[in-house]
Amino acid sequence: MKVALAYSGGLDTTVIIKWLQEKYGAEVITVTVDVGQEEDFEAIAERAKLSGASKHYYIDAKERFTKEFVARAIKANALYEGEYPLTAALSRPLIAEETVKVALKENADAVAHGCTGKGNDQIRFEVTFAALAPGIKIFAPVREWNMSRDEEIEYALSRKLPIHPKKSRFSIDENLWGRSIEAAELEDPWIEPPQEAFKLVAPLENTPDEAEEVTIGFEKGVPVSLNGEELPLIEIIKRLNKIGGKHGFGIVDHVEDRVVGIKSREVYEAPAALMLIKAHADLEKMALGGRHLMFKQLVDRQWCYMVYAGLWVDPLMDSLNAFIDTSQENVTGEVRIKLYKGSARIVGRRAERPVYSMAMATYSRESAFDQKMAEGFVRIWGLETVLGRAALRRKE
Ligand code: ARG
Repeated sequence: MKVALAYSGGLDTTVIIKWLQEKYGAEVITVTVDVGQEEDFEAIAERAKLSGASKHYYIDAKERFTKEFVARAIKANALYEGEYPLTAALSRPLIAEETVKVALKENADAVAHGCTGKGNDQIRFEVTFAALAPGIKIFAPVREWNMSRDEEIEYALSRKLPIHPKKSRFSIDENLWGRSIEAAELEDPWIEPPQEAFKLVAPLENTPDEAEEVTIGFEKGVPVSLNGEELPLIEIIKRLNKIGGKHGFGIVDHVEDRVVGIKSREVYEAPAALMLIKAHADLEKMALGGRHLMFKQLVDRQWCYMVYAGLWVDPLMDSLNAFIDTSQENVTGEVRIKLYKGSARIVGRRAERPVYSMAMATYSRESAFDQKMAEGFVRIWGLETVLGRAALRRKE
Protein backbone atom coordinates (compact mmCIF):
# COMPACT_ATOMS: atom_id res chain seq x y z
CA MET A 1 0.00 0.00 0.00
CA LYS A 2 1.37 3.36 -1.07
CA VAL A 3 -0.01 6.62 0.37
CA ALA A 4 0.58 10.25 -0.67
CA LEU A 5 0.30 12.42 2.45
CA ALA A 6 -0.30 16.17 2.43
CA TYR A 7 2.54 17.01 4.81
CA SER A 8 2.81 20.32 6.67
CA GLY A 9 5.72 19.22 8.83
CA GLY A 10 3.77 19.75 12.06
CA LEU A 11 3.19 17.26 14.86
CA ASP A 12 0.02 15.65 13.44
CA THR A 13 1.31 14.94 9.96
CA THR A 14 4.69 13.79 11.27
CA VAL A 15 3.02 11.24 13.54
CA ILE A 16 0.83 10.18 10.61
CA ILE A 17 3.87 9.01 8.61
CA LYS A 18 4.80 6.51 11.30
CA TRP A 19 1.23 5.59 12.18
CA LEU A 20 0.33 4.67 8.58
CA GLN A 21 3.41 2.48 8.44
CA GLU A 22 2.67 0.74 11.72
CA LYS A 23 -1.08 0.34 11.32
CA TYR A 24 -1.36 -0.36 7.59
CA GLY A 25 2.19 -1.31 6.60
CA ALA A 26 2.00 1.60 4.18
CA GLU A 27 4.76 3.23 2.21
CA VAL A 28 4.33 6.99 2.74
CA ILE A 29 5.25 9.69 0.24
CA THR A 30 5.06 13.19 1.69
CA VAL A 31 3.93 16.25 -0.24
CA THR A 32 4.60 19.74 1.11
CA VAL A 33 2.93 22.54 -0.80
CA ASP A 34 4.35 26.03 -0.45
CA VAL A 35 1.52 28.57 -0.44
CA GLY A 36 3.63 31.26 1.18
CA GLN A 37 3.82 29.95 4.75
CA GLU A 38 7.08 31.03 6.33
CA GLU A 39 8.71 27.69 6.98
CA ASP A 40 12.10 26.07 6.60
CA PHE A 41 11.19 23.70 3.79
CA GLU A 42 14.52 21.92 3.91
CA ALA A 43 13.99 21.12 7.56
CA ILE A 44 10.51 19.85 6.69
CA ALA A 45 11.92 17.55 3.99
CA GLU A 46 14.49 16.29 6.48
CA ARG A 47 11.83 15.66 9.11
CA ALA A 48 9.73 13.69 6.61
CA LYS A 49 12.65 11.45 5.72
CA LEU A 50 13.68 10.94 9.35
CA SER A 51 10.10 9.99 10.19
CA GLY A 52 10.12 7.28 7.56
CA ALA A 53 8.79 8.85 4.35
CA SER A 54 10.10 6.94 1.34
CA LYS A 55 10.06 10.04 -0.82
CA HIS A 56 9.35 13.73 -0.30
CA TYR A 57 7.95 16.31 -2.69
CA TYR A 58 8.27 20.07 -2.23
CA ILE A 59 5.90 21.96 -4.49
CA ASP A 60 6.17 25.70 -4.88
CA ALA A 61 2.58 26.74 -5.53
CA LYS A 62 2.86 30.40 -4.52
CA GLU A 63 2.35 31.63 -8.06
CA ARG A 64 -0.68 29.41 -8.70
CA PHE A 65 -2.12 30.23 -5.31
CA THR A 66 -1.87 33.94 -6.02
CA LYS A 67 -3.18 33.89 -9.58
CA GLU A 68 -5.84 31.18 -9.47
CA PHE A 69 -7.09 31.47 -5.92
CA VAL A 70 -6.28 34.81 -4.28
CA ALA A 71 -6.99 36.94 -7.37
CA ARG A 72 -10.42 35.29 -7.65
CA ALA A 73 -11.11 35.89 -3.97
CA ILE A 74 -10.42 39.59 -4.47
CA LYS A 75 -12.75 39.76 -7.48
CA ALA A 76 -15.41 38.04 -5.37
CA ASN A 77 -14.85 40.34 -2.34
CA ALA A 78 -14.60 37.11 -0.42
CA LEU A 79 -15.27 37.55 3.30
CA TYR A 80 -17.08 34.61 4.91
CA GLU A 81 -19.75 35.84 7.29
CA GLY A 82 -18.60 39.32 6.37
CA GLU A 83 -15.27 38.89 8.15
CA TYR A 84 -13.03 35.95 7.26
CA PRO A 85 -10.93 36.37 4.10
CA LEU A 86 -10.80 32.57 3.57
CA THR A 87 -7.05 32.38 4.11
CA ALA A 88 -6.90 28.68 5.00
CA ALA A 89 -10.00 27.75 3.01
CA LEU A 90 -8.49 28.92 -0.29
CA SER A 91 -5.28 26.95 0.15
CA ARG A 92 -6.83 23.55 0.83
CA PRO A 93 -8.12 22.65 -2.64
CA LEU A 94 -4.73 23.56 -4.09
CA ILE A 95 -2.83 21.48 -1.53
CA ALA A 96 -5.25 18.61 -2.14
CA GLU A 97 -4.87 18.90 -5.91
CA GLU A 98 -1.06 18.83 -5.71
CA THR A 99 -1.22 15.82 -3.39
CA VAL A 100 -3.51 13.98 -5.82
CA LYS A 101 -1.12 14.76 -8.68
CA VAL A 102 1.74 13.14 -6.77
CA ALA A 103 -0.47 10.16 -5.87
CA LEU A 104 -1.34 9.57 -9.52
CA LYS A 105 2.24 10.04 -10.67
CA GLU A 106 3.56 7.65 -8.03
CA ASN A 107 0.79 5.12 -8.60
CA ALA A 108 -0.28 5.43 -4.97
CA ASP A 109 -3.33 3.57 -3.68
CA ALA A 110 -4.39 6.29 -1.30
CA VAL A 111 -4.07 9.90 -0.17
CA ALA A 112 -3.99 11.18 3.41
CA HIS A 113 -4.37 14.43 5.32
CA GLY A 114 -3.93 15.55 8.92
CA CYS A 115 -7.26 17.27 9.58
CA THR A 116 -9.50 16.60 12.55
CA GLY A 117 -13.11 15.47 12.35
CA LYS A 118 -14.41 18.75 13.78
CA GLY A 119 -13.27 21.26 11.21
CA ASN A 120 -13.82 22.42 7.66
CA ASP A 121 -10.44 21.40 6.33
CA GLN A 122 -11.30 17.68 6.17
CA ILE A 123 -14.16 18.57 3.83
CA ARG A 124 -12.00 20.77 1.61
CA PHE A 125 -9.39 18.05 1.27
CA GLU A 126 -11.67 15.09 0.78
CA VAL A 127 -14.12 16.67 -1.65
CA THR A 128 -11.17 17.74 -3.81
CA PHE A 129 -9.51 14.33 -3.54
CA ALA A 130 -12.72 12.56 -4.51
CA ALA A 131 -13.56 14.89 -7.39
CA LEU A 132 -10.09 14.75 -8.94
CA ALA A 133 -9.35 11.06 -8.33
CA PRO A 134 -12.72 9.32 -8.00
CA GLY A 135 -12.58 6.21 -5.87
CA ILE A 136 -9.11 6.83 -4.43
CA LYS A 137 -8.80 5.62 -0.83
CA ILE A 138 -8.60 8.44 1.70
CA PHE A 139 -6.93 8.22 5.11
CA ALA A 140 -7.74 10.74 7.84
CA PRO A 141 -5.68 9.29 10.70
CA VAL A 142 -6.36 12.13 13.15
CA ARG A 143 -10.06 11.23 12.96
CA GLU A 144 -9.27 7.58 13.45
CA TRP A 145 -6.64 7.36 16.16
CA ASN A 146 -8.30 9.38 18.91
CA MET A 147 -5.05 10.57 20.54
CA SER A 148 -4.81 13.74 22.59
CA ARG A 149 -2.04 16.18 21.81
CA ASP A 150 0.01 14.85 24.73
CA GLU A 151 -0.50 11.28 23.59
CA GLU A 152 0.70 12.24 20.12
CA ILE A 153 3.83 13.77 21.59
CA GLU A 154 4.38 10.62 23.62
CA TYR A 155 3.87 8.49 20.49
CA ALA A 156 6.38 10.61 18.59
CA LEU A 157 8.99 10.54 21.35
CA SER A 158 8.71 6.79 21.85
CA ARG A 159 9.40 6.29 18.11
CA LYS A 160 12.17 8.89 18.11
CA LEU A 161 10.36 11.04 15.55
CA PRO A 162 12.08 14.41 15.04
CA ILE A 163 9.12 16.50 16.18
CA HIS A 164 9.46 20.19 16.21
CA PRO A 165 9.70 21.75 19.67
CA LYS A 166 6.30 23.41 19.93
CA LYS A 167 6.69 26.99 18.78
CA SER A 168 3.35 28.18 20.00
CA ARG A 169 0.45 26.91 22.08
CA PHE A 170 -1.91 28.04 19.34
CA SER A 171 -2.96 26.13 16.27
CA ILE A 172 -1.70 28.22 13.41
CA ASP A 173 -2.31 28.08 9.71
CA GLU A 174 -0.39 30.43 7.50
CA ASN A 175 -0.03 31.37 3.87
CA LEU A 176 0.61 34.49 1.84
CA TRP A 177 -3.05 35.56 2.16
CA GLY A 178 -2.95 35.61 5.97
CA ARG A 179 -2.75 33.69 9.24
CA SER A 180 -5.38 31.91 11.32
CA ILE A 181 -4.83 31.47 15.02
CA GLU A 182 -6.92 29.01 16.99
CA ALA A 183 -7.09 27.03 20.22
CA ALA A 184 -5.66 27.45 23.76
CA GLU A 185 -7.29 30.36 25.61
CA LEU A 186 -8.82 31.70 22.38
CA GLU A 187 -11.51 29.02 22.73
CA ASP A 188 -13.06 31.32 25.34
CA PRO A 189 -14.64 34.01 23.14
CA TRP A 190 -14.48 36.53 25.99
CA ILE A 191 -10.70 36.42 26.34
CA GLU A 192 -8.70 38.96 24.34
CA PRO A 193 -6.01 37.40 22.14
CA PRO A 194 -2.58 38.08 23.65
CA GLN A 195 -0.02 39.92 21.53
CA GLU A 196 2.09 36.77 21.17
CA ALA A 197 -0.66 35.28 18.99
CA PHE A 198 0.19 37.82 16.32
CA LYS A 199 3.02 38.02 13.87
CA LEU A 200 1.94 40.50 11.19
CA VAL A 201 0.03 43.16 13.11
CA ALA A 202 1.68 45.51 15.62
CA PRO A 203 -0.01 46.33 18.94
CA LEU A 204 -1.88 49.64 18.69
CA GLU A 205 0.36 51.16 21.36
CA ASN A 206 3.38 50.74 19.09
CA THR A 207 2.00 52.12 15.86
CA PRO A 208 3.30 55.30 14.21
CA ASP A 209 1.74 58.62 15.18
CA GLU A 210 1.66 59.71 11.55
CA ALA A 211 -1.00 58.41 9.17
CA GLU A 212 0.20 56.75 5.97
CA GLU A 213 -1.56 56.64 2.65
CA VAL A 214 -1.36 53.94 0.00
CA THR A 215 -2.81 53.91 -3.49
CA ILE A 216 -3.81 50.55 -4.92
CA GLY A 217 -4.29 50.21 -8.66
CA PHE A 218 -6.61 47.58 -10.18
CA GLU A 219 -7.02 46.23 -13.67
CA LYS A 220 -10.16 44.21 -14.40
CA GLY A 221 -10.61 43.65 -10.68
CA VAL A 222 -7.09 42.47 -9.96
CA PRO A 223 -4.52 44.60 -8.08
CA VAL A 224 -1.66 45.59 -10.37
CA SER A 225 0.11 48.50 -8.68
CA LEU A 226 0.99 50.09 -5.38
CA ASN A 227 1.58 53.82 -5.11
CA GLY A 228 1.84 54.01 -8.88
CA GLU A 229 4.46 51.26 -9.14
CA GLU A 230 3.43 48.24 -11.19
CA LEU A 231 4.03 45.07 -9.20
CA PRO A 232 3.11 41.39 -9.25
CA LEU A 233 0.14 40.65 -6.98
CA ILE A 234 2.27 38.58 -4.60
CA GLU A 235 4.57 41.58 -4.06
CA ILE A 236 1.62 43.93 -3.48
CA ILE A 237 0.33 41.51 -0.84
CA LYS A 238 3.70 41.32 0.90
CA ARG A 239 4.09 45.08 1.01
CA LEU A 240 0.53 45.72 2.19
CA ASN A 241 0.94 43.15 4.95
CA LYS A 242 3.96 45.12 6.16
CA ILE A 243 2.38 48.57 5.87
CA GLY A 244 -1.00 47.53 7.31
CA GLY A 245 0.62 45.52 10.08
CA LYS A 246 2.86 48.41 11.05
CA HIS A 247 -0.25 50.58 11.57
CA GLY A 248 -2.01 47.92 13.62
CA PHE A 249 -4.54 47.11 10.91
CA GLY A 250 -5.60 43.63 9.83
CA ILE A 251 -6.97 41.63 12.74
CA VAL A 252 -10.28 39.78 12.56
CA ASP A 253 -11.72 38.33 15.74
CA HIS A 254 -15.12 36.73 15.28
CA VAL A 255 -17.36 33.78 16.04
CA GLU A 256 -17.57 31.60 12.96
CA ASP A 257 -20.02 28.94 11.84
CA ARG A 258 -18.25 25.83 10.64
CA VAL A 259 -19.83 23.55 8.08
CA VAL A 260 -20.22 20.77 10.67
CA GLY A 261 -22.43 23.03 12.77
CA ILE A 262 -19.93 23.96 15.47
CA LYS A 263 -19.41 27.62 16.28
CA SER A 264 -15.82 28.58 16.86
CA ARG A 265 -14.01 31.74 17.90
CA GLU A 266 -11.54 32.53 15.16
CA VAL A 267 -8.73 35.02 15.10
CA TYR A 268 -7.02 36.04 11.89
CA GLU A 269 -4.44 38.54 10.79
CA ALA A 270 -4.60 39.50 7.17
CA PRO A 271 -3.77 43.17 6.61
CA ALA A 272 -3.26 42.91 2.85
CA ALA A 273 -6.32 40.73 2.26
CA LEU A 274 -8.62 43.06 4.18
CA MET A 275 -7.24 46.18 2.49
CA LEU A 276 -7.40 44.71 -1.01
CA ILE A 277 -10.94 43.43 -0.63
CA LYS A 278 -12.11 46.71 0.85
CA ALA A 279 -10.46 48.69 -1.94
CA HIS A 280 -11.77 46.35 -4.62
CA ALA A 281 -15.35 46.49 -3.37
CA ASP A 282 -15.10 50.26 -3.28
CA LEU A 283 -13.83 50.53 -6.84
CA GLU A 284 -16.64 48.24 -8.01
CA LYS A 285 -19.12 50.81 -6.77
CA MET A 286 -17.60 53.35 -9.14
CA ALA A 287 -17.55 50.95 -12.06
CA LEU A 288 -20.77 48.94 -11.85
CA GLY A 289 -24.41 49.96 -11.86
CA GLY A 290 -26.53 49.51 -8.74
CA ARG A 291 -28.48 46.49 -9.98
CA HIS A 292 -25.30 44.86 -11.19
CA LEU A 293 -23.78 45.36 -7.74
CA MET A 294 -26.87 44.05 -5.98
CA PHE A 295 -26.83 40.84 -8.01
CA LYS A 296 -23.07 40.46 -7.73
CA GLN A 297 -23.37 40.52 -3.95
CA LEU A 298 -25.51 37.38 -4.19
CA VAL A 299 -22.96 35.71 -6.45
CA ASP A 300 -20.08 36.80 -4.21
CA ARG A 301 -21.82 35.41 -1.18
CA GLN A 302 -22.44 32.08 -2.86
CA TRP A 303 -18.83 31.98 -4.14
CA CYS A 304 -17.56 32.62 -0.64
CA TYR A 305 -19.78 29.96 0.91
CA MET A 306 -18.75 27.38 -1.70
CA VAL A 307 -15.07 27.99 -0.97
CA TYR A 308 -15.57 27.97 2.78
CA ALA A 309 -17.55 24.74 2.53
CA GLY A 310 -14.89 22.91 0.55
CA LEU A 311 -16.62 22.96 -2.83
CA TRP A 312 -13.90 24.68 -4.90
CA VAL A 313 -14.05 21.97 -7.57
CA ASP A 314 -17.85 22.02 -7.91
CA PRO A 315 -19.11 22.88 -11.42
CA LEU A 316 -21.18 25.68 -9.92
CA MET A 317 -17.88 27.45 -9.21
CA ASP A 318 -17.18 27.61 -12.94
CA SER A 319 -20.49 29.35 -13.50
CA LEU A 320 -20.01 31.76 -10.62
CA ASN A 321 -16.48 32.53 -11.86
CA ALA A 322 -17.80 33.20 -15.36
CA PHE A 323 -20.25 35.75 -14.01
CA ILE A 324 -17.66 37.37 -11.76
CA ASP A 325 -15.09 37.60 -14.55
CA THR A 326 -17.46 39.36 -16.94
CA SER A 327 -18.45 41.78 -14.18
CA GLN A 328 -14.83 42.89 -13.79
CA GLU A 329 -14.38 44.25 -17.34
CA ASN A 330 -14.55 47.84 -16.13
CA VAL A 331 -13.16 47.44 -12.62
CA THR A 332 -9.99 49.31 -13.49
CA GLY A 333 -8.77 52.28 -11.51
CA GLU A 334 -7.23 53.33 -8.23
CA VAL A 335 -8.23 53.48 -4.58
CA ARG A 336 -6.56 55.53 -1.84
CA ILE A 337 -6.45 54.13 1.69
CA LYS A 338 -5.26 55.94 4.78
CA LEU A 339 -3.83 53.87 7.60
CA TYR A 340 -3.75 55.10 11.14
CA LYS A 341 -3.83 53.40 14.54
CA GLY A 342 -5.55 50.21 13.50
CA SER A 343 -7.86 51.63 10.89
CA ALA A 344 -7.75 51.62 7.11
CA ARG A 345 -10.06 54.27 5.73
CA ILE A 346 -10.79 54.76 2.08
CA VAL A 347 -10.22 58.40 1.25
CA GLY A 348 -10.53 58.44 -2.53
CA ARG A 349 -11.13 56.40 -5.66
CA ARG A 350 -11.17 56.84 -9.41
CA ALA A 351 -12.20 54.44 -12.15
CA GLU A 352 -10.94 54.56 -15.71
CA ARG A 353 -14.42 54.06 -17.16
CA PRO A 354 -16.74 54.96 -14.30
CA VAL A 355 -20.50 54.60 -14.20
CA TYR A 356 -20.27 57.33 -11.58
CA SER A 357 -20.93 60.65 -13.25
CA MET A 358 -20.12 63.91 -11.56
CA ALA A 359 -22.27 65.76 -14.11
CA MET A 360 -25.25 63.69 -12.95
CA ALA A 361 -24.46 63.73 -9.24
CA THR A 362 -23.68 67.39 -8.78
CA TYR A 363 -26.09 69.64 -6.88
CA SER A 364 -24.80 72.66 -8.74
CA ARG A 365 -26.85 74.37 -11.48
CA GLU A 366 -24.82 72.77 -14.29
CA SER A 367 -26.21 69.31 -13.48
CA ALA A 368 -26.90 67.13 -16.52
CA PHE A 369 -29.92 65.67 -14.72
CA ASP A 370 -33.25 67.23 -15.63
CA GLN A 371 -35.19 67.26 -12.36
CA LYS A 372 -38.54 67.69 -14.09
CA MET A 373 -38.26 64.12 -15.44
CA ALA A 374 -38.46 62.83 -11.90
CA GLU A 375 -42.13 63.78 -11.28
CA GLY A 376 -43.71 61.19 -13.55
CA PHE A 377 -41.14 58.63 -12.64
CA VAL A 378 -41.84 58.84 -8.93
CA ARG A 379 -45.63 58.48 -9.48
CA ILE A 380 -45.21 55.37 -11.60
CA TRP A 381 -42.54 53.94 -9.30
CA GLY A 382 -44.84 54.23 -6.29
CA LEU A 383 -48.02 53.12 -8.08
CA GLU A 384 -47.95 49.53 -6.85
CA THR A 385 -47.41 50.62 -3.27
CA VAL A 386 -50.16 53.24 -3.41
CA LEU A 387 -52.66 50.73 -4.88
CA GLY A 388 -51.64 48.09 -2.37
CA ARG A 389 -52.22 50.39 0.59
CA ALA A 390 -55.58 51.49 -0.81
CA ALA A 391 -56.70 47.88 -1.15
CA LEU A 392 -55.85 47.20 2.51
CA ARG A 393 -57.83 50.26 3.60
CA ARG A 394 -60.97 48.90 1.96
CA LYS A 395 -61.11 46.19 4.63
CA GLU A 396 -61.62 48.74 7.44
N1 ARG B 1 -11.64 28.48 10.63
C1 ARG B 1 -10.82 28.63 9.48
C2 ARG B 1 -11.34 27.82 8.34
O1 ARG B 1 -12.15 26.95 8.53
C3 ARG B 1 -9.36 28.42 9.75
C4 ARG B 1 -8.88 27.03 9.99
C5 ARG B 1 -7.40 27.04 10.05
N2 ARG B 1 -6.80 25.97 10.75
C6 ARG B 1 -5.98 26.13 11.82
N3 ARG B 1 -5.32 25.09 12.24
N4 ARG B 1 -5.81 27.25 12.43
O2 ARG B 1 -10.98 28.06 7.22
